[in-house]
Amino acid sequence: MSTLVTGIAELVTNDPSRGPGPLGPVADAAVVVADGAVAWTGPRRRAPAADASIDVGGRAVVPGFVDSHTHLVFAGDRAAEFEARVSGARYDGGGIAATVAATRAASDDTLRGRLRGLVAEMRRQGTTTAEVKSGYGLTVEDEARCLRLAGEVTAETTFLGAHVVPAEYAGRREDYVALVTGPMLAACAPFARWIDVFCEPASPHAFDGDAARVVLEAGLTRGLQPRVHANQLSAGPGVRLAVELGAASVDHCTHLTDADVDALADGSTVATLLPGAEFSTRSPYPDARRLLSAGVPVALATDCNPGTSFTSSMPFCIALAVREMGMTPAEALWAATAGGAAALRRPDVGHLGPGARADLAVLDAPSHRYLAYRPGVPLARALATDDSGPST
Ligand code: NIG
Ligand code: FE
Repeated sequence: MSTLVTGIAELVTNDPSRGPGPLGPVADAAVVVADGAVAWTGPRRRAPAADASIDVGGRAVVPGFVDSHTHLVFAGDRAAEFEARVSGARYDGGGIAATVAATRAASDDTLRGRLRGLVAEMRRQGTTTAEVKSGYGLTVEDEARCLRLAGEVTAETTFLGAHVVPAEYAGRREDYVALVTGPMLAACAPFARWIDVFCEPASPHAFDGDAARVVLEAGLTRGLQPRVHANQLSAGPGVRLAVELGAASVDHCTHLTDADVDALADGSTVATLLPGAEFSTRSPYPDARRLLSAGVPVALATDCNPGTSFTSSMPFCIALAVREMGMTPAEALWAATAGGAAALRRPDVGHLGPGARADLAVLDAPSHRYLAYRPGVPLARALATDDSGPST
């Protein structure tokens, strides 16, 4: 079964062989998808025949967004904590305990309903691939449960048992790291592709560089690939540790030293920026321009979670990146698509080259520039080109 998509005012392929620059745009374009993959892209006048057709009516089509950093398995909310920050309270990770308590108390069906609702919300805003972390269970059973649920909606599951030290381990951080790297990892590894740690020596709740190394190395021995929360609240060892261990991505990167930037430039780790977190915690935004100028690959993701960034909207993050982080509209779109795919080491998504997964997002606009130009307007939605349903 093949489908011809026409009426595309601007097609962003992220395939530089198709058009000028990294976005590889094609004007007045068409796409043929077949068996869930991109079979052909090019000018409309040269399009081959197909079994069915969809006319998007003069709109832009871009690769579906790849949201490479989310925490979607949780119960409850932290609206009061958010409101307190508006009055000047600072974020230090302490509020995570409230979400842990609510998540532990919730049934599978409650967690599943919330998770699926958020995934559907993302798809309505153009996201077609999402990574999902655990990290609000923090017992062997609850972490495994959260990852099992995450695996129902995505292949990109991340074990974040080392999110914070839970209340019952207060003052016994080493014991908790032993739990995470022992029985918890054993129970969670079958459900996870990635391992993550909140490396933030400035937080009384999170983990220093030595503990983070122990956690990530334990994950590697079980076949989990590392990704790291680092340098969110202050400069620390997390970015360099991530690069040293060959992590696919190091996320936040809000406070970077020159040595951090040099390490990223010399390594293969993607810097994933999460401007929704700076928005909600009222913190300074990361300096994307500094990273891009150094040649560091940059991704954008939502960090969707109830504490620091309760947005599921990649277009909102793109708008923040353009307004607050020195990115051009093209750089921000690339980071939200191809950048996210690089951060997940997924060659099949984040672009619309031949063979890519048929993940198209249609914008209610003639060009990708509108994503930042019309902030807060629901322009993007994932385009269903066959009956296969959502594929995150
Ligand atoms: O990426 N910083 C650590 N983890 C999340 C926040 C989790 C929370 O506050 O509930 C983040 O910002
Ligand atoms: Fe996060």
